Amino acid sequence: MKIITLDGPAGAGKSSTAKALAHELGWYHMDTGAMYRSVALAALEQNISLENEKDLAELAASLDIQSAHGDAFLNGRNVTAEIRIDRVTTATRFVADAPSVREEMKKMQRSLSEEFNLVTEGRDQGTIVFPDAELKIYLDASPAARAARRYRERVDLGDQSRTMDEILHSQLQRDQGDRNRPVGAMAVAIDAIIINTDGLSLNNVVKQILKCACDRGLISD
Ligand code: DC
Repeated sequence: MKIITLDGPAGAGKSSTAKALAHELGWYHMDTGAMYRSVALAALEQNISLENEKDLAELAASLDIQSAHGDAFLNGRNVTAEIRIDRVTTATRFVADAPSVREEMKKMQRSLSEEFNLVTEGRDQGTIVFPDAELKIYLDASPAARAARRYRERVDLGDQSRTMDEILHSQLQRDQGDRNRPVGAMAVAIDAIIINTDGLSLNNVVKQILKCACDRGLISD
């Protein structure tokens, strides 16, 4: 099947772009960050030590995780909101750092690509999970724009518990972790097209990607 990968740091607009793009193309939207978050939520709920890689990998392999079109399901339960709370975000780092969990996630992600045309978003989709993807995009944005986007998203959900500065600070810390993990680090694939979303509307970003897909012969006009 065909694959478009969207990688890049938190807050660059990957999720809204991937969702709109998948909708436009009629393809499956896979949010791999939501998949890592779902494993972290399950680990917290089942009191599994975040330091125990073997237990985390066994847990990941045992779960039914679905991430489709912006919603996340863990063993059939809709966990879309729960996986975004700060406690889960913090725990997700341990899950994402564990190489054997990443192996399990890679298997799950690749098996979906056998069934569906995919728009997949994450950190390692173009580099490690789908190195042969037809089109690879790396979405970037300035730290200030990324923090402002996350701040607005939280306020829209009624959460004003953290200031924009606090969000910026934790985002920069998360970037460091994402860039430096020994396996599955966030990186730009050598054949990726980089789009900086600063000042661009969602519509504009989606149009640019559709044009790239057209130029590659992935879709027709
Ligand atoms: O995209 P997000 O913020 O929901 O991702 C949550 C965490 O999972 C983030 O710290 C990076 C990590 N992640 C990863 O390591 N690999 C992916 N393919 C997707 C997310």
